[in-house]
Order: sequence, then C-alpha cells, then structure tokens
Amino acid sequence: MTAPLLSVHDLAKSFGGTRAVDKVSFDLAAGETLALAGLSGSGKSTVARMVMRLIEPDAGRIDFMGEDLTRHSGSALRARRRHIQMVFQDTNSSFNPRATVASALLDPLNTFDILPKPQRAHEVRHLLERVGLSPGLFDRSIHELSGGQRQRVAIARALASRPALIVLDEALSAVDASIRIDLLELLLDLQREQGISYLFIAHDLGMIRAIAHRTAILDAGRIAEIGPTQSIIAAPQTQIGQQLVAAAPRLFHVADQP
Ligand SMILES: Nc1ncnc2c1ncn2[C@@H]1O[C@H](COP(=O)(O)OP(=O)(O)O)[C@@H](O)[C@H]1O
Ligand SMILES: [Mg+2]
Repeated sequence: MTAPLLSVHDLAKSFGGTRAVDKVSFDLAAGETLALAGLSGSGKSTVARMVMRLIEPDAGRIDFMGEDLTRHSGSALRARRRHIQMVFQDTNSSFNPRATVASALLDPLNTFDILPKPQRAHEVRHLLERVGLSPGLFDRSIHELSGGQRQRVAIARALASRPALIVLDEALSAVDASIRIDLLELLLDLQREQGISYLFIAHDLGMIRAIAHRTAILDAGRIAEIGPTQSIIAAPQTQIGQQLVAAAPRLFHVADQP
C-alpha cells in the first residue's frame, strides 16, 4: 500500500476555553476526496486552516508527502506550500478584488517560479480556459466578475502551482445551485486529469455525495464518524450523522437540479 498523501494525527486546537478541534485524525490518499461535514462551529475551518498552516495546532501531526508539516517553517514551509492550495467561500479571502485576473494568476507562478517568465502570461490564458473562462478576461479586474466567475478564478489560482492537494472550505456554498453543479463537474474533471486530492468542506451532504469518496462528520471538534460517503448517507451511525442526513433530501433535490 502506498503512503497517504496527507495524514493528520491527533490534531488539536483551542481558542480560549473552547476546544475547536479535539484529537482529529484522518488520512487522504492521492487522487481521493475526503469531505468534512458538520454543523456550523464544529471545527471544519479550523482543521482546514491548520492543514494550510494558517494557524498553529496546539498538538498533533500533519504528515504531507511523507513529512511532518508542523516541523517546518519559513522557506521550507513555503516550498511545500506550493503543493497545498486553498479555495475559500469568500473570494475576498483568496485575492484582492481590485487585482486583475492576470495578476491574481501570475502571482503564484511568480511566487513559486513556475515556467520561464516569458511563458507565464500564456500559462494564465491556459489556466483560464481550463476552468471554463474566456482568456479575454485576462485584463479584467476581479470585482467586475460574477460570483461564479470569481470562484473559477480562485480554482485557477489554486491550480497554478500544480498542487497535489486543494482544500476547499465551503468553496461552492455561496454560488447559485446551477453554477455549483458546473463547478462540481469541473473539480471532478480536474481530479480525473491531474490526480489532485481534495479536502472538501461543506455542510451540504448533497454536494458531498456528488464529489467525496469518503466523509468525516465533525461534531464539537471531534470526528463522530468517518467512512465511505455512500455508507454514511445510507446508514449514519451517530446521532449527528443521522441529523445531517435527515436534513439532506431537500439538499439532494436542490443539488440534483440540472
Ligand atoms: N480565531 C478564532 N478565535 C476564537 N474562536 C474561534 C476562532 N476560530 C474558530 N473559533 C471557534 O472554534 C469553533 C470551531 O470553528 P470553525 O472551525 O470555524 O467551525 P466550522 O468551520 O465548522 O463552522 C467555534 O466554536 C468557533 O467559534
Ligand atoms: Mg467554517
């Protein structure tokens, strides 16, 4: 068996007296999607931010590509950053809305020194096409785009550094249901083509059913249950699992609309 791409072990984080994340462990294989589901405040974003090293864990290990990320800082961490990218719900967290599409996408190419400099503008146009956007958007500013277009740019930006893992924190939660389906299909295509792994955070089990091989349900900072998405939806083993699945038929219906 090959080692998992990402292996999180006993990860913990408290804010004041609140245990936001309490001994969370999971593995994620190359080319696999693991969903993190759970009610608001259950600790999903805190897990994502620790995996991204945007916040420091109190305890635990984050093994990524065979190395413990919690031991790295500075340039060693930056070198690994290239391989883990994130897409947020709020595109203002992904980039400066005043930036142009071109500068938002050139930024990771420059930061991680991807391709010889003269080829980078061409790569930006290629990335735009890859996420279903017109290369004609090159000089537009981000704030001129629709919400769905902005989220495609955020995905293109995440792809630019050719990551092994993309963390999507409610990345599709704020876009219209019809656009959401297109974006789910885009993510599935990219995974098939490039073998990218996704840590896919959502409260909507309808979306999760469409994309995630396995699902972990978080409850008050702990993993209540984890397993194949189909098994969890067919027969949730915990009260919180049952609660989320019971809320789902309506959501499935919305998510399944063409
Ligand atoms: N920066 C922070 N400061 C204080 N409390 C926080 C912070 N971030 C998250 N929390 C708390 O940690 C818990 C988990 O939050 P979060 O990870 O954002 O949950 P979710 O993404 O599942 O909604 C919540 O109780 C939240 O209020
Ligand atoms: Mg969150």
